[in-house]
Amino acid sequence: MDILLLADPEEEQIAKYLSDSSIFLAKNSDQIIGVIVVKVSAVDSEIMNVAVKEEYQRKGIGKMLIHQAIQLLKQSGIKTLSIGTADTSVHQLSLYKKLGFSEVERLEDFFTKNYKEAIYENGIRAKDMIRLEMSLT
Ligand code: COA
Repeated sequence: MDILLLADPEEEQIAKYLSDSSIFLAKNSDQIIGVIVVKVSAVDSEIMNVAVKEEYQRKGIGKMLIHQAIQLLKQSGIKTLSIGTADTSVHQLSLYKKLGFSEVERLEDFFTKNYKEAIYENGIRAKDMIRLEMSLT
């Protein structure tokens, strides 16, 4: 949960998708250092959460988790993979675009309406959700 909270600051929001999603872990010996949560429905899928423990970030683990999920989803015949992030998540947006995702939608006021506490990143309040998608075919 501590690692999931790095990507999604409210346990209540995490609980909404955790029970009907698949969870993959990155481990260093016995220690969990990264996690990716993917929800699959028919031929579409969505990354609900991806996070790497702070001291292990910027070492390629996030990229590896997303790559592994893509391979598994392709093998299962899933056609699209999407992910949503805050308009303020500039590093995450550049990571997803480098991996082949393209912006498809902006959900106005998603973070101001759905989260009790204001979320700040890079000194700016998160407001809209940017949704990105990639084709797996
Ligand atoms: N500064 C600049 N670029 C960053 C960055 C930072 N602090 N953090 C991630 N990036 C981007 C860059 O594009 C970078 O590419 P580069 O190394 O070629 O410059 C790439 O991500 C790094 O990839 P990787 O090392 O695989 O990322 P990671 O293991 O740190 O995992 C996250 C990426 C986003 C999962 C991780 O930083 C994290 O857990 N962040 C907190 C939780 C979060 O925001 N999750 C996503 C919610 S949408």
